[in-house]
Amino acid sequence: METRTAVITAEQMHAQDGYCQKVREYWTAQNAVPTAYVETYGCQQNEADSEILRGLLERCGYTICGGPEGADVVIFNTCAIREHAEQRVFGNLGALSHTKRRHPEQKIFLCGCMAGQTHVAERVKKSYPYVDVCFNPHHLWQLPEYLHRVLTKKGRIFATEEVPGVIAEGLPQKRQGRVKAWVSIMYGCNNFCSYCIVPYVRGRERSRRPEAVIEECRGLIAAGYKDITLLGQNVNSYGKDLGLGVDFADLLAQIAQIPGEFTLRFMTSHPKDASFKLFDTMAKYPNIAHQFHLPVQSGSDRILKAMNRCYDRAQYLSLIEYGRKVMPDIVFTSDIIVGFPGETEEDFAATLELCEAVRYDALFTFIYSPRRGTPAASLPDPTPRAEKNARFDRLLEVQNRISEQRHRDYIGKTVRVLADGADGDMLTGRTDGGRLVRFPGDPALIGQFVPVTITGHTTWSLTGDYAPSKEVRHG
Ligand code: 5AD
Ligand code: SF4
Repeated sequence: METRTAVITAEQMHAQDGYCQKVREYWTAQNAVPTAYVETYGCQQNEADSEILRGLLERCGYTICGGPEGADVVIFNTCAIREHAEQRVFGNLGALSHTKRRHPEQKIFLCGCMAGQTHVAERVKKSYPYVDVCFNPHHLWQLPEYLHRVLTKKGRIFATEEVPGVIAEGLPQKRQGRVKAWVSIMYGCNNFCSYCIVPYVRGRERSRRPEAVIEECRGLIAAGYKDITLLGQNVNSYGKDLGLGVDFADLLAQIAQIPGEFTLRFMTSHPKDASFKLFDTMAKYPNIAHQFHLPVQSGSDRILKAMNRCYDRAQYLSLIEYGRKVMPDIVFTSDIIVGFPGETEEDFAATLELCEAVRYDALFTFIYSPRRGTPAASLPDPTPRAEKNARFDRLLEVQNRISEQRHRDYIGKTVRVLADGADGDMLTGRTDGGRLVRFPGDPALIGQFVPVTITGHTTWSLTGDYAPSKEVRHG
Protein backbone atom coordinates (compact mmCIF):
# COMPACT_ATOMS: atom_id res chain seq x y z
CA MET A 1 0.00 0.00 0.00
CA GLU A 2 1.40 3.35 -1.11
CA THR A 3 1.67 5.98 1.62
CA ARG A 4 3.23 9.04 0.02
CA THR A 5 1.41 12.19 -0.99
CA ALA A 6 2.07 13.77 -4.36
CA VAL A 7 1.33 17.44 -4.78
CA ILE A 8 0.39 18.05 -8.40
CA THR A 9 2.74 20.72 -9.72
CA ALA A 10 1.85 23.91 -11.56
CA GLU A 11 3.45 22.41 -14.70
CA GLN A 12 1.28 19.31 -14.48
CA MET A 13 -1.84 21.46 -14.07
CA HIS A 14 -0.70 23.62 -16.96
CA ALA A 15 -0.38 20.53 -19.15
CA GLN A 16 -4.01 19.64 -18.31
CA ASP A 17 -5.07 23.16 -19.34
CA GLY A 18 -3.37 22.42 -22.66
CA TYR A 19 -5.55 19.33 -23.07
CA CYS A 20 -8.67 21.40 -22.29
CA GLN A 21 -7.67 23.73 -25.10
CA LYS A 22 -7.12 20.81 -27.50
CA VAL A 23 -10.50 19.27 -26.66
CA ARG A 24 -12.19 22.63 -27.28
CA GLU A 25 -10.40 22.89 -30.63
CA TYR A 26 -11.50 19.36 -31.51
CA TRP A 27 -15.16 20.32 -31.09
CA THR A 28 -14.79 23.73 -32.75
CA ALA A 29 -13.37 21.96 -35.81
CA GLN A 30 -16.54 19.86 -35.88
CA ASN A 31 -18.67 22.94 -35.46
CA ALA A 32 -20.37 21.35 -32.48
CA VAL A 33 -21.09 22.25 -28.86
CA PRO A 34 -20.59 18.98 -26.97
CA THR A 35 -22.66 17.93 -23.97
CA ALA A 36 -21.70 15.96 -20.87
CA TYR A 37 -23.60 14.22 -18.10
CA VAL A 38 -22.18 13.36 -14.66
CA GLU A 39 -24.04 10.96 -12.37
CA THR A 40 -22.97 10.82 -8.73
CA TYR A 41 -23.32 7.88 -6.34
CA GLY A 42 -22.51 7.86 -2.64
CA CYS A 43 -21.23 10.45 -0.24
CA GLN A 44 -20.63 14.21 -0.16
CA GLN A 45 -16.98 13.69 -1.10
CA ASN A 46 -18.22 12.25 -4.40
CA GLU A 47 -20.65 15.17 -4.81
CA ALA A 48 -17.70 17.52 -4.35
CA ASP A 49 -15.58 15.51 -6.84
CA SER A 50 -18.43 15.64 -9.36
CA GLU A 51 -18.44 19.43 -9.10
CA ILE A 52 -14.78 19.31 -10.13
CA LEU A 53 -15.54 16.89 -12.99
CA ARG A 54 -18.24 19.28 -14.26
CA GLY A 55 -15.85 22.21 -13.88
CA LEU A 56 -13.20 20.40 -15.93
CA LEU A 57 -15.78 19.40 -18.56
CA GLU A 58 -16.89 23.02 -18.91
CA ARG A 59 -13.27 24.08 -19.24
CA CYS A 60 -13.04 21.56 -22.11
CA GLY A 61 -16.00 23.23 -23.82
CA TYR A 62 -18.79 20.87 -22.76
CA THR A 63 -22.25 21.98 -21.70
CA ILE A 64 -23.56 20.01 -18.74
CA CYS A 65 -26.83 18.21 -19.47
CA GLY A 66 -29.39 16.42 -17.33
CA GLY A 67 -29.24 12.82 -18.58
CA PRO A 68 -27.17 10.28 -20.54
CA GLU A 69 -29.33 10.18 -23.68
CA GLY A 70 -27.50 11.91 -26.51
CA ALA A 71 -24.67 13.19 -24.28
CA ASP A 72 -21.21 13.17 -25.85
CA VAL A 73 -19.68 12.21 -22.52
CA VAL A 74 -21.23 10.27 -19.65
CA ILE A 75 -19.35 9.96 -16.36
CA PHE A 76 -20.46 7.70 -13.52
CA ASN A 77 -18.75 8.82 -10.32
CA THR A 78 -19.21 5.70 -8.23
CA CYS A 79 -19.36 4.51 -4.62
CA ALA A 80 -17.99 1.24 -3.24
CA ILE A 81 -19.04 1.49 0.39
CA ARG A 82 -21.71 -1.23 0.19
CA GLU A 83 -22.55 -3.92 -2.33
CA HIS A 84 -25.91 -2.35 -3.08
CA ALA A 85 -24.20 0.84 -4.34
CA GLU A 86 -22.04 -1.22 -6.69
CA GLN A 87 -25.00 -3.22 -8.00
CA ARG A 88 -26.83 0.01 -8.86
CA VAL A 89 -23.84 1.25 -10.81
CA PHE A 90 -23.48 -1.99 -12.75
CA GLY A 91 -27.24 -1.97 -13.48
CA ASN A 92 -27.17 1.61 -14.74
CA LEU A 93 -23.97 0.96 -16.65
CA GLY A 94 -25.79 -1.85 -18.47
CA ALA A 95 -28.43 0.64 -19.63
CA LEU A 96 -25.71 2.85 -21.15
CA SER A 97 -25.06 0.21 -23.83
CA HIS A 98 -28.38 1.38 -25.36
CA THR A 99 -27.64 5.12 -25.18
CA LYS A 100 -24.28 4.42 -26.78
CA ARG A 101 -25.88 2.34 -29.55
CA ARG A 102 -28.10 5.31 -30.38
CA HIS A 103 -25.10 7.69 -30.22
CA PRO A 104 -22.01 5.61 -31.10
CA GLU A 105 -19.61 8.49 -30.55
CA GLN A 106 -20.64 8.72 -26.89
CA LYS A 107 -17.67 8.31 -24.51
CA ILE A 108 -18.37 6.54 -21.24
CA PHE A 109 -16.23 7.09 -18.14
CA LEU A 110 -16.33 5.23 -14.83
CA CYS A 111 -14.55 6.84 -11.88
CA GLY A 112 -14.81 7.16 -8.11
CA CYS A 113 -14.31 4.53 -5.43
CA MET A 114 -15.48 1.49 -7.42
CA ALA A 115 -12.85 2.26 -10.04
CA GLY A 116 -10.22 1.96 -7.30
CA GLN A 117 -10.76 -1.79 -7.01
CA THR A 118 -8.84 -4.18 -9.27
CA HIS A 119 -11.69 -6.68 -9.51
CA VAL A 120 -14.07 -3.96 -10.71
CA ALA A 121 -11.60 -2.82 -13.38
CA GLU A 122 -11.27 -6.45 -14.52
CA ARG A 123 -15.04 -6.85 -14.74
CA VAL A 124 -15.40 -3.62 -16.71
CA LYS A 125 -12.61 -4.71 -19.08
CA LYS A 126 -14.32 -8.02 -19.79
CA SER A 127 -18.04 -7.36 -19.57
CA TYR A 128 -18.55 -3.67 -20.36
CA PRO A 129 -16.63 -3.15 -23.62
CA TYR A 130 -18.41 0.14 -24.29
CA VAL A 131 -16.85 1.80 -21.22
CA ASP A 132 -14.03 3.91 -22.66
CA VAL A 133 -12.24 5.10 -19.51
CA CYS A 134 -12.00 3.82 -15.95
CA PHE A 135 -9.96 5.91 -13.47
CA ASN A 136 -9.63 5.88 -9.70
CA PRO A 137 -10.00 8.99 -7.44
CA HIS A 138 -6.26 9.77 -7.59
CA HIS A 139 -6.55 10.51 -11.32
CA LEU A 140 -9.48 12.93 -11.20
CA TRP A 141 -7.36 15.95 -12.23
CA GLN A 142 -6.33 14.14 -15.44
CA LEU A 143 -9.82 14.10 -16.94
CA PRO A 144 -8.91 16.58 -19.76
CA GLU A 145 -6.00 14.35 -20.82
CA TYR A 146 -8.20 11.22 -20.90
CA LEU A 147 -10.91 13.08 -22.83
CA HIS A 148 -8.41 14.20 -25.41
CA ARG A 149 -7.01 10.70 -25.74
CA VAL A 150 -10.34 8.93 -26.32
CA LEU A 151 -11.43 11.59 -28.82
CA THR A 152 -8.27 11.37 -30.89
CA LYS A 153 -6.98 7.81 -30.47
CA LYS A 154 -8.44 4.33 -30.50
CA GLY A 155 -8.32 2.20 -27.36
CA ARG A 156 -9.60 2.20 -23.81
CA ILE A 157 -7.93 3.72 -20.74
CA PHE A 158 -7.66 1.99 -17.38
CA ALA A 159 -5.98 4.30 -14.86
CA THR A 160 -6.76 2.19 -11.84
CA GLU A 161 -3.28 1.45 -10.50
CA GLU A 162 -2.32 2.55 -6.99
CA VAL A 163 -0.35 5.78 -7.03
CA PRO A 164 0.63 8.10 -4.16
CA GLY A 165 -2.46 9.95 -2.95
CA VAL A 166 -2.55 13.32 -4.64
CA ILE A 167 -3.38 16.88 -3.69
CA ALA A 168 -4.35 18.94 -6.72
CA GLU A 169 -5.06 22.62 -6.10
CA GLY A 170 -6.67 25.06 -8.51
CA LEU A 171 -9.11 22.67 -10.21
CA PRO A 172 -12.24 24.36 -11.56
CA GLN A 173 -15.53 23.55 -9.85
CA LYS A 174 -19.04 23.91 -11.17
CA ARG A 175 -20.94 24.17 -7.90
CA GLN A 176 -24.48 22.89 -7.77
CA GLY A 177 -26.07 25.69 -5.84
CA ARG A 178 -25.43 29.30 -4.92
CA VAL A 179 -26.23 28.98 -1.22
CA LYS A 180 -24.46 25.87 0.10
CA ALA A 181 -20.95 24.74 -0.79
CA TRP A 182 -18.70 21.78 0.01
CA VAL A 183 -15.02 22.38 0.67
CA SER A 184 -12.73 19.35 0.83
CA ILE A 185 -10.07 19.93 3.45
CA MET A 186 -8.41 16.53 3.23
CA TYR A 187 -8.56 13.28 1.32
CA GLY A 188 -8.19 9.62 2.20
CA CYS A 189 -8.32 7.78 5.49
CA ASN A 190 -5.76 6.08 7.76
CA ASN A 191 -8.13 4.29 10.07
CA PHE A 192 -8.75 0.95 8.42
CA CYS A 193 -11.98 0.21 10.23
CA SER A 194 -12.18 -3.52 9.57
CA TYR A 195 -15.36 -3.33 7.45
CA CYS A 196 -14.46 -0.31 5.33
CA ILE A 197 -13.15 -0.11 1.77
CA VAL A 198 -12.42 3.63 1.81
CA PRO A 199 -8.72 3.53 2.85
CA TYR A 200 -8.03 1.05 0.03
CA VAL A 201 -9.68 3.12 -2.68
CA ARG A 202 -8.93 6.67 -1.52
CA GLY A 203 -5.47 6.16 -0.05
CA ARG A 204 -3.83 7.66 3.02
CA GLU A 205 -4.88 10.86 4.76
CA ARG A 206 -3.54 14.01 3.20
CA SER A 207 -4.52 17.52 4.17
CA ARG A 208 -4.78 20.55 1.98
CA ARG A 209 -2.68 23.44 3.22
CA PRO A 210 -4.66 25.73 5.58
CA GLU A 211 -4.09 28.82 3.44
CA ALA A 212 -5.57 27.03 0.38
CA VAL A 213 -8.68 26.03 2.35
CA ILE A 214 -9.07 29.49 3.89
CA GLU A 215 -8.67 31.16 0.51
CA GLU A 216 -11.36 28.92 -0.99
CA CYS A 217 -13.74 29.73 1.87
CA ARG A 218 -13.02 33.44 1.56
CA GLY A 219 -13.88 33.27 -2.14
CA LEU A 220 -17.12 31.42 -1.46
CA ILE A 221 -18.22 33.92 1.18
CA ALA A 222 -17.38 36.83 -1.13
CA ALA A 223 -19.46 35.12 -3.84
CA GLY A 224 -22.44 35.04 -1.48
CA TYR A 225 -22.41 31.42 -0.28
CA LYS A 226 -24.05 31.18 3.12
CA ASP A 227 -23.44 27.61 4.24
CA ILE A 228 -20.03 25.95 3.99
CA THR A 229 -19.42 22.31 4.86
CA LEU A 230 -15.81 21.25 5.33
CA LEU A 231 -15.35 17.70 4.08
CA GLY A 232 -13.05 14.83 4.90
CA GLN A 233 -13.37 11.14 5.81
CA ASN A 234 -12.04 12.06 9.24
CA VAL A 235 -11.77 15.83 9.58
CA ASN A 236 -10.50 15.48 13.14
CA SER A 237 -7.12 14.29 11.97
CA TYR A 238 -6.75 17.31 9.68
CA GLY A 239 -3.23 18.70 9.62
CA LYS A 240 -1.45 15.76 11.27
CA ASP A 241 0.40 15.03 8.03
CA LEU A 242 1.37 18.69 7.44
CA GLY A 243 3.36 19.21 10.63
CA LEU A 244 2.41 22.90 10.78
CA GLY A 245 0.93 22.76 14.27
CA VAL A 246 -2.52 23.56 12.84
CA ASP A 247 -5.18 21.05 13.87
CA PHE A 248 -8.81 20.86 12.77
CA ALA A 249 -10.10 23.08 15.58
CA ASP A 250 -7.50 25.72 14.64
CA LEU A 251 -8.54 25.59 10.98
CA LEU A 252 -12.20 25.86 11.93
CA ALA A 253 -11.49 28.88 14.14
CA GLN A 254 -9.58 30.62 11.36
CA ILE A 255 -12.39 30.10 8.85
CA ALA A 256 -15.03 31.17 11.36
CA GLN A 257 -13.25 34.52 11.67
CA ILE A 258 -13.55 35.37 7.98
CA PRO A 259 -15.85 38.43 7.83
CA GLY A 260 -19.33 37.82 6.38
CA GLU A 261 -22.64 36.17 7.17
CA PHE A 262 -22.30 32.41 6.84
CA THR A 263 -22.62 29.13 8.70
CA LEU A 264 -19.79 26.65 8.95
CA ARG A 265 -20.27 22.87 9.23
CA PHE A 266 -18.06 19.85 8.84
CA MET A 267 -18.16 16.12 8.37
CA THR A 268 -17.19 13.40 9.15
CA SER A 269 -15.66 13.09 12.62
CA HIS A 270 -14.08 9.98 14.04
CA PRO A 271 -14.78 9.68 17.78
CA LYS A 272 -11.22 8.59 18.54
CA ASP A 273 -9.92 11.95 17.26
CA ALA A 274 -12.76 14.29 18.25
CA SER A 275 -11.41 16.57 20.97
CA PHE A 276 -12.92 18.70 23.72
CA LYS A 277 -10.97 21.55 22.10
CA LEU A 278 -13.10 21.08 18.99
CA PHE A 279 -16.33 21.36 21.00
CA ASP A 280 -14.96 24.45 22.75
CA THR A 281 -14.15 26.01 19.37
CA MET A 282 -17.67 25.27 18.13
CA ALA A 283 -19.15 26.86 21.22
CA LYS A 284 -16.93 29.94 20.91
CA TYR A 285 -17.77 31.05 17.35
CA PRO A 286 -21.44 31.83 16.70
CA ASN A 287 -21.19 30.99 12.99
CA ILE A 288 -20.11 27.37 13.56
CA ALA A 289 -23.26 25.25 13.42
CA HIS A 290 -24.08 23.29 16.55
CA GLN A 291 -24.30 20.14 14.47
CA PHE A 292 -22.09 17.11 14.96
CA HIS A 293 -22.16 13.95 12.89
CA LEU A 294 -20.32 11.46 15.10
CA PRO A 295 -20.59 7.91 13.73
CA VAL A 296 -20.60 5.38 16.56
CA GLN A 297 -21.14 2.27 14.35
CA SER A 298 -22.03 0.06 17.34
CA GLY A 299 -22.88 0.35 21.02
CA SER A 300 -21.03 -2.86 21.95
CA ASP A 301 -17.41 -2.63 23.09
CA ARG A 302 -16.72 -6.12 21.75
CA ILE A 303 -17.94 -5.15 18.26
CA LEU A 304 -16.19 -1.76 18.36
CA LYS A 305 -12.95 -3.64 19.00
CA ALA A 306 -13.61 -6.05 16.13
CA MET A 307 -14.36 -3.04 13.94
CA ASN A 308 -10.96 -1.52 14.90
CA ARG A 309 -12.64 1.71 15.96
CA CYS A 310 -10.14 2.48 18.78
CA TYR A 311 -12.68 3.89 21.28
CA ASP A 312 -15.19 2.34 23.60
CA ARG A 313 -18.74 3.13 24.49
CA ALA A 314 -17.78 5.07 27.63
CA GLN A 315 -15.34 7.30 25.74
CA TYR A 316 -17.95 7.93 23.08
CA LEU A 317 -20.58 8.86 25.65
CA SER A 318 -18.18 11.23 27.38
CA LEU A 319 -17.80 13.14 24.09
CA ILE A 320 -21.57 13.45 23.77
CA GLU A 321 -21.80 14.59 27.36
CA TYR A 322 -19.10 17.23 26.92
CA GLY A 323 -20.62 18.48 23.66
CA ARG A 324 -23.98 18.94 25.35
CA LYS A 325 -22.39 20.61 28.36
CA VAL A 326 -20.81 23.35 26.23
CA MET A 327 -23.63 23.53 23.64
CA PRO A 328 -26.96 22.43 25.16
CA ASP A 329 -28.69 22.83 21.76
CA ILE A 330 -26.16 20.69 19.81
CA VAL A 331 -27.67 18.31 17.25
CA PHE A 332 -25.97 14.91 17.18
CA THR A 333 -26.39 12.43 14.34
CA SER A 334 -24.61 9.13 13.75
CA ASP A 335 -23.98 6.12 11.51
CA ILE A 336 -24.67 2.60 12.73
CA ILE A 337 -23.86 -0.74 11.13
CA VAL A 338 -26.23 -3.56 12.02
CA GLY A 339 -25.17 -7.19 11.67
CA PHE A 340 -21.38 -6.84 11.74
CA PRO A 341 -19.89 -10.38 11.64
CA GLY A 342 -20.43 -12.07 15.00
CA GLU A 343 -22.84 -9.42 16.35
CA THR A 344 -24.99 -11.18 18.96
CA GLU A 345 -28.39 -10.20 20.29
CA GLU A 346 -26.57 -8.88 23.36
CA ASP A 347 -24.29 -6.69 21.23
CA PHE A 348 -27.25 -5.38 19.30
CA ALA A 349 -29.13 -4.65 22.53
CA ALA A 350 -26.12 -2.53 23.59
CA THR A 351 -26.51 -0.52 20.37
CA LEU A 352 -30.20 0.05 21.04
CA GLU A 353 -29.39 1.12 24.59
CA LEU A 354 -26.77 3.56 23.37
CA CYS A 355 -29.26 5.14 20.98
CA GLU A 356 -31.77 5.48 23.81
CA ALA A 357 -29.07 7.07 25.96
CA VAL A 358 -27.80 9.54 23.36
CA ARG A 359 -31.13 10.36 21.74
CA TYR A 360 -29.72 11.33 18.34
CA ASP A 361 -31.71 13.72 16.21
CA ALA A 362 -31.21 11.38 13.24
CA LEU A 363 -29.37 8.17 12.42
CA PHE A 364 -28.01 6.71 9.21
CA THR A 365 -28.36 2.96 9.55
CA PHE A 366 -26.77 0.29 7.37
CA ILE A 367 -26.77 -3.48 7.25
CA TYR A 368 -23.19 -4.77 7.17
CA SER A 369 -22.02 -5.44 3.63
CA PRO A 370 -18.82 -7.50 3.18
CA ARG A 371 -16.22 -5.64 1.10
CA ARG A 372 -13.60 -7.71 -0.68
CA GLY A 373 -10.09 -7.21 0.72
CA THR A 374 -11.20 -5.81 4.11
CA PRO A 375 -10.38 -7.82 7.27
CA ALA A 376 -14.05 -8.16 8.30
CA ALA A 377 -14.93 -9.87 5.03
CA SER A 378 -13.10 -12.99 6.17
CA LEU A 379 -14.69 -13.17 9.63
CA PRO A 380 -17.27 -15.88 10.32
CA ASP A 381 -20.74 -14.38 10.00
CA PRO A 382 -23.31 -16.87 11.25
CA THR A 383 -26.23 -14.47 11.77
CA PRO A 384 -28.91 -15.10 9.11
CA ARG A 385 -29.88 -12.20 6.88
CA ALA A 386 -33.48 -12.33 8.14
CA GLU A 387 -32.21 -11.75 11.69
CA LYS A 388 -30.10 -8.79 10.53
CA ASN A 389 -33.11 -7.33 8.75
CA ALA A 390 -35.19 -7.72 11.89
CA ARG A 391 -32.51 -5.94 13.98
CA PHE A 392 -32.35 -3.18 11.39
CA ASP A 393 -36.12 -2.67 11.65
CA ARG A 394 -35.99 -2.64 15.45
CA LEU A 395 -33.28 0.02 15.41
CA LEU A 396 -35.25 2.11 12.96
CA GLU A 397 -38.32 1.86 15.14
CA VAL A 398 -36.41 3.10 18.20
CA GLN A 399 -34.78 5.94 16.28
CA ASN A 400 -37.98 7.03 14.53
CA ARG A 401 -39.64 7.37 17.91
CA ILE A 402 -36.73 9.44 19.23
CA SER A 403 -36.50 11.61 16.11
CA GLU A 404 -40.20 12.25 16.31
CA GLN A 405 -39.98 13.25 19.97
CA ARG A 406 -37.06 15.53 19.24
CA HIS A 407 -38.91 17.14 16.37
CA ARG A 408 -41.99 17.59 18.51
CA ASP A 409 -39.86 19.61 20.96
CA TYR A 410 -39.35 22.23 18.22
CA ILE A 411 -43.07 23.03 17.98
CA GLY A 412 -43.84 26.60 18.99
CA LYS A 413 -40.16 27.62 18.83
CA THR A 414 -38.80 30.11 16.34
CA VAL A 415 -35.58 28.95 14.71
CA ARG A 416 -33.14 30.50 12.27
CA VAL A 417 -33.38 28.78 8.91
CA LEU A 418 -31.24 29.25 5.84
CA ALA A 419 -33.72 29.07 2.94
CA ASP A 420 -31.93 27.07 0.27
CA GLY A 421 -34.55 25.96 -2.25
CA ALA A 422 -38.19 25.47 -3.18
CA ASP A 423 -40.28 22.32 -3.25
CA GLY A 424 -43.62 22.96 -4.96
CA ASP A 425 -45.06 26.05 -3.29
CA MET A 426 -43.00 25.55 -0.13
CA LEU A 427 -39.52 26.83 0.58
CA THR A 428 -36.99 24.42 2.05
CA GLY A 429 -34.14 25.19 4.37
CA ARG A 430 -31.99 23.95 7.21
CA THR A 431 -31.75 25.00 10.83
CA ASP A 432 -28.29 25.69 12.24
CA GLY A 433 -28.40 22.13 13.56
CA GLY A 434 -29.02 20.86 10.03
CA ARG A 435 -32.69 19.86 10.43
CA LEU A 436 -34.80 20.14 7.28
CA VAL A 437 -37.62 22.74 7.44
CA ARG A 438 -40.43 23.41 4.94
CA PHE A 439 -42.40 26.62 5.07
CA PRO A 440 -44.50 28.76 2.73
CA GLY A 441 -42.59 31.82 1.57
CA ASP A 442 -41.47 34.05 -1.25
CA PRO A 443 -38.69 32.43 -3.37
CA ALA A 444 -36.88 35.77 -3.01
CA LEU A 445 -35.98 34.55 0.51
CA ILE A 446 -33.78 31.78 -0.93
CA GLY A 447 -30.22 32.42 0.16
CA GLN A 448 -31.25 34.30 3.32
CA PHE A 449 -31.32 33.38 6.99
CA VAL A 450 -34.93 33.74 8.10
CA PRO A 451 -36.83 33.16 11.35
CA VAL A 452 -39.38 30.32 11.10
CA THR A 453 -41.85 29.35 13.82
CA ILE A 454 -42.21 25.58 13.87
CA THR A 455 -45.79 24.35 13.71
CA GLY A 456 -45.54 20.70 12.68
CA HIS A 457 -43.15 17.80 12.06
CA THR A 458 -42.59 14.39 10.52
CA THR A 459 -39.84 11.90 11.41
CA TRP A 460 -37.47 13.54 8.96
CA SER A 461 -38.48 17.18 8.76
CA LEU A 462 -40.13 20.18 10.38
CA THR A 463 -42.80 22.48 8.97
CA GLY A 464 -43.37 26.07 9.97
CA ASP A 465 -44.30 29.65 9.18
CA TYR A 466 -42.03 32.49 8.20
CA ALA A 467 -41.98 34.81 11.24
CA PRO A 468 -40.03 37.96 10.35
CA SER A 469 -40.69 39.74 13.64
CA LYS A 470 -39.67 36.88 15.97
CA GLU A 471 -36.47 36.32 17.97
CA VAL A 472 -34.70 33.10 16.99
CA ARG A 473 -33.26 30.14 18.82
CA HIS A 474 -30.33 28.22 17.39
CA GLY A 475 -30.56 24.45 17.03
N1 5AD B 1 -21.15 -2.19 5.36
C1 5AD B 1 -22.14 -1.41 5.83
N2 5AD B 1 -21.97 -0.11 6.13
C2 5AD B 1 -20.74 0.41 5.93
N3 5AD B 1 -20.27 1.66 6.14
C3 5AD B 1 -18.98 1.68 5.78
N4 5AD B 1 -18.60 0.48 5.33
C4 5AD B 1 -19.68 -0.33 5.43
C5 5AD B 1 -19.91 -1.70 5.13
N5 5AD B 1 -18.95 -2.49 4.66
C6 5AD B 1 -21.07 2.73 6.72
C7 5AD B 1 -20.45 3.27 8.02
C8 5AD B 1 -19.90 4.60 7.59
C9 5AD B 1 -20.89 5.00 6.54
C10 5AD B 1 -20.44 6.09 5.63
O1 5AD B 1 -21.12 3.82 5.82
O2 5AD B 1 -21.48 3.42 8.96
O3 5AD B 1 -19.84 5.52 8.66
FE1 SF4 C 1 -14.03 4.00 6.60
FE2 SF4 C 1 -13.39 4.09 9.20
FE3 SF4 C 1 -12.08 5.67 7.43
FE4 SF4 C 1 -14.65 6.19 8.03
S1 SF4 C 1 -12.91 6.25 9.49
S2 SF4 C 1 -13.73 6.13 5.97
S3 SF4 C 1 -15.49 4.13 8.34
S4 SF4 C 1 -12.04 3.41 7.51
